[in-house]
Amino acid sequence: MSVLLEARGITKQFPGTLALDDVQLELQAGEIHAVIGENGAGKSTLMKILSGVYTADAGQIFFQGQPVSLRSPQEAIALGIAIVHQELSVIPALTVAENIYPGRLPTDRLGMVKYGELFENARRELARLNVAVDPRAEVSTLSVANQQLVEITKALSRQCKVLILDEPTSALTEHEAETLFALLRRLAADGVGILYISHKLSEIFALSDRITVLRDGRYIGTRITAETSPEEVIRMMVGRELTDMYPEKSTGRGEPLLEVRNLRLPGQQHACSFTLYQGEVLGFAGLIGSGRSELMRAIFGADEKESGEILLKGRPVTINSPQDAIDLRLAYLPEDRKAAGLFLDMALKANIEAASLPQVTANGFVVPAREVALAREYIGRLNISTYGPDQEVRRLSGGNQQKTLVAKWLAIKPSILIVDEPTRGIDVGAKREIHHLLRQLAREGVGVIMVSSELPEILGMSDRILVMHEGAIVAELAASEATEELIMTYASGQENGA
Ligand SMILES: Nc1ncnc2c1ncn2[C@@H]1O[C@H](COP(=O)(O)OP(=O)(O)OP(=O)(O)O)[C@@H](O)[C@H]1O
Ligand SMILES: [Mg+2]
Repeated sequence: MSVLLEARGITKQFPGTLALDDVQLELQAGEIHAVIGENGAGKSTLMKILSGVYTADAGQIFFQGQPVSLRSPQEAIALGIAIVHQELSVIPALTVAENIYPGRLPTDRLGMVKYGELFENARRELARLNVAVDPRAEVSTLSVANQQLVEITKALSRQCKVLILDEPTSALTEHEAETLFALLRRLAADGVGILYISHKLSEIFALSDRITVLRDGRYIGTRITAETSPEEVIRMMVGRELTDMYPEKSTGRGEPLLEVRNLRLPGQQHACSFTLYQGEVLGFAGLIGSGRSELMRAIFGADEKESGEILLKGRPVTINSPQDAIDLRLAYLPEDRKAAGLFLDMALKANIEAASLPQVTANGFVVPAREVALAREYIGRLNISTYGPDQEVRRLSGGNQQKTLVAKWLAIKPSILIVDEPTRGIDVGAKREIHHLLRQLAREGVGVIMVSSELPEILGMSDRILVMHEGAIVAELAASEATEELIMTYASGQENGA
C-alpha cells in the first residue's frame, strides 16, 4: 500500500485555544483510518486543515509524496480530497439535486440549467448509495438523517482519492449506517483513502483498519484496529480508565407525573397514550422517523395537537406553546441543536440563560453577575470546555455545543425533562457524565423521557422502554426484559405488543 496523504507537525492556534499541537497523521490508499478523541480534541480542526478550510500555523502536508499547500477548499477538491463536515451545510431552500451539484449544474449553451439532466444525475447518484429521497424535493422538507445522506451523496459525487467523514452517522439509523459502511468498504477496495471520525466505538472497530487518537490537540498514537481494544483506545483518549458508563437504575418509582392520553397529531392515524412517573427514566426507542420527536414536540407545545389530553400530577393542563411548557417546568432538548436549540452567534452565557431569564434579571434587566454565576455553575457541572461564559457558541466543539444545550434546559430546574438524542456527537467521557447527570436528576424526582436511536444507550439508561413504529406506541418493555433484538422487532413493525 502507498501513502496517500500525510500530515506532519500540524499546529493550529485559535484565539485562546491551541487546537492542534504538533500533530501527525498518515493515510494509506485503500485504508479506512479512524480519528478519535474527546470533544474538543482537535479532530474537526485537523480535517478542516486537510480539506483546505483552515490553514495550519505550522507543519507540512504531503499528497502522494509531494508537499502541498492547501490554501482553499477548491485546492483540496482539485487534488481529490472531499469532506463531509460534522455540521450540516446543505442549503434548505434548494432541491436535493441542486445541493448535490453546487456550482456544477449542467447547463445548455445559453447557460440555462438543464433540470432534466440534473435530476437524472442526482437520481443515479442517490440510487448508488441506496438513498431513498426524491432529487426534486426541497431539502428543508427532509429529516435530519436524509439531509445528512444528501450531504454524503454530494461528497461522493465527486471522483475523490481521499474522503473525509466527520461524524457522518450521528443522525443515521443503524440500517442507513450499514448502507454507508458497505459503500465505504467498496470505495476503500477501489483504493480511496478514508478518514473517519466518530464517537461510536462499535462503529470504529467494525469499520476501520487503523485508529489514530488525539487528546487535547496532541497526537497520542496510531494503532492497527485488529491489534487493539476499546479499552486501550478509551484509555488513550481520556488518559485514564473509564468504568460504569451507565449509572445504576432506580429501584422504585414515584407518583404519575405526566399523563398523555390519546394524543393525536394532525394527519396522524394513531393516538398515543403513556404515563411518566416521578423519578424514572422512560426510554423511547424506534427507528428515525418513527414519530418519537414529533410526539415530544407536540407535548412540548412546539407543534400542534389534533386532540388528546395532557395531565400533570393528575391535573389537566394546556400546553399550546413552548412557553406554556416552560412555565410548567417542562423542558425539551431537541435533536437538532443547530436549528432548534442554540443561538450559535451568541455567547455561551446567553445560551445557558435563554430559557430561564427570570433567574438572571431584576426589574427586566439582566444582572451581569447573575448571568455569569449561572453560566459558571453549568460550565462546571457539565464540564464544558471553553475559555469562559463569553465564548461564542459557534466556536465550541460539536460536543460542547450539545452540552450547552443540556445546560440551557437544566437551568430552568425542570420537573420533567425530555431529551431527544441527548448524546449525539458526544464523546465517551462526556456521554458518561450526561448519563450520570440524567440519572441524578431522576433521583431528585425529575421525570426523564429519553428519545434515543442508540440501543445500548436506551438499554443502559431506561427503567422502562416504549417502542414506537409509524407514529404509534407499539410496545412497552420493562428494563429487565428488554434486549436489542426485542426492541428492533417492535421498532421495525414485525410485531405489535402494545
Ligand atoms: N473557529 C474556531 N475559533 C476558535 N476556537 C475554535 C474554533 N474551532 C475550534 N475551536 C476550538 O478548538 C478546539 C478543537 O475543536 P474541534 O472542533 O477540532 O474539536 P473536535 O475534536 O472536533 O470535537 P467534537 O468531538 O466535539 O466535534 C476546541 O477547544 C474548540 O473550542
Ligand atoms: Mg468535531
